[in-house]
Amino acid sequence: MEKPQLDGVGACVFDAYGTLFDFNSAALTARDELGDDWQRLSDLWRQKQLQYTWLRGLAGRHADFWQVTGDALDFSLATLNIERPGLRARLMDLYLQLDTYPEVAETLQRLKAAGMKLAILSNGTPAMLAAVVERSGLDGVFDAVLSVEEVGVFKPHPAVYGLAADRLQLAPAAICFLSSNGWDAYSAKAFGFRVLWCNRFGQAAERIPAAPDGEIGDLSQLPPLLVPQLRS
Ligand code: LAC
Repeated sequence: MEKPQLDGVGACVFDAYGTLFDFNSAALTARDELGDDWQRLSDLWRQKQLQYTWLRGLAGRHADFWQVTGDALDFSLATLNIERPGLRARLMDLYLQLDTYPEVAETLQRLKAAGMKLAILSNGTPAMLAAVVERSGLDGVFDAVLSVEEVGVFKPHPAVYGLAADRLQLAPAAICFLSSNGWDAYSAKAFGFRVLWCNRFGQAAERIPAAPDGEIGDLSQLPPLLVPQLRS
């Protein structure tokens, strides 16, 4: 996929988990207890967390992302036969302290200095998002931190993407959406955003509507694609 220059973009809207914040860092930090299982647990936890968001959406039985994240962790610990006192609580607490990917702070500062509006649009609850944003030191950077809890359904329901357009008071085509989750990037494009898929994990193209405008390997490649004066 190409790296197109996108002109006329007034705001960047970022997915949170996997795009700005490293969900693997929770299990990695607990590897003193998890040992070699940490990556398997982290993979299963993430996969199950997302499955539960989609299942709850289809069934019309929403519960917030904190509950879904805990349910997915319980399933994953049981599947891997991991039972240690205090480990569940520790991992959930670590989910509130996730690492920020290394290029994020500088990238956001460059975009903000160039006049770009910046926002987060995430499945996370307001409390979960406030915790990771505060830990990242990026508190003052975002014009809006938007949670799906305002619409009561998870991504990729179009109402979620619509929330960002409403709040930022911009047409979808004036918003560039960034996600490392292929399904989220494609679904945001289907909604009408301009979309760059931050394909950190080198995933294959999705087979759902609609292909993003382009693909980048990490967020450091973003500013020159959106801001003419940052092109050398
Ligand atoms: C989010 C998940 C999908 O932050 O990564 O919404």
